[in-house]
Amino acid sequence: MFKLKNILGTQCLTEDDITTILDTVDSFKEISTRPIKKVPTLRGKTVINLFFEPSTRTRTSFEIAGKRLSADVINIVGSSSSTVKGENLIDTALNLEAMHPDIMIVRHALSGAAEMISQFIECPIINAGDGYHEHPTQALLDLYTIRESKRNLEGLNVVIVGDIAHSRVVRSNIYAMKTMGMNVKLIGPPTMIPLEIEKMGVSVGYYLEDAIPNADVIMILRLQKERQSKYLLSSIREYSNLYCLTSKFLEKAKDDVLIFHPGPINRGIEISLDVMQSDRSLILNQVTNGVALRMALMYLVLGGNNDRTN
Ligand code: CP
Repeated sequence: MFKLKNILGTQCLTEDDITTILDTVDSFKEISTRPIKKVPTLRGKTVINLFFEPSTRTRTSFEIAGKRLSADVINIVGSSSSTVKGENLIDTALNLEAMHPDIMIVRHALSGAAEMISQFIECPIINAGDGYHEHPTQALLDLYTIRESKRNLEGLNVVIVGDIAHSRVVRSNIYAMKTMGMNVKLIGPPTMIPLEIEKMGVSVGYYLEDAIPNADVIMILRLQKERQSKYLLSSIREYSNLYCLTSKFLEKAKDDVLIFHPGPINRGIEISLDVMQSDRSLILNQVTNGVALRMALMYLVLGGNNDRTN
């Protein structure tokens, strides 16, 4: 029985929680391949998508997920909300709750924004990315996509490459991967790896080529230019020379290594086009699975029932 009211991060998810979520995705994935991609599971429910930061994948997939479950989905973009007139986030959330939504999906540049809102309102909250903090649905769809290929998660070696310091995706993935018994190695420039991050149970290195041969999964991160201070890199060219995943690096990889990137991608800086398009890349599978993962999560948070797919 799934008992979580809010999904604020993966830090607080147990192995059982994660296994339940991933197992539930299986039964929702097929719905998106039907000629009529709609089931009545959340008919009569209202989902509010409250996004104060740009998003292509997360916002759209939550909207599609809600609509495929027959929920009424309301999209609110920060720049067109009354926050631009001075209303604060708590008042915005309280006013939206007064209209009786059943679930709110929140993305915000402030770390802790979703958790803060959850302390003021009763409506369930799913964190769709908060500042540097967490992006739990991204990590869960990543785990689902890895499990689809590798069957078991325990013992897999994952190498995560790039701008570790500014990434919420990496934090959610570390928590979830460690909970599932996976080994995580972080690779990036020293200026982009937080001090003492090893305390999260991960190992750290600075050279991509050293980490590649042992990797079952290589996850490339975006350079988070909007969250970086200056002077972390001497140049983008130097960064791409050292950390852009190219086919030359992959010559040393296992034949069945999986390549991931949460998107959006800076092509040719973080990953080369031929690697993006190679048969080892599951980047678009991540996006496809994001819809089913978010369907499953909304279903579970709203209590679940037995007729989920009819
Ligand atoms: N992966 C991800 O969060 O992408 P968006 O910013 O497009 O939602």
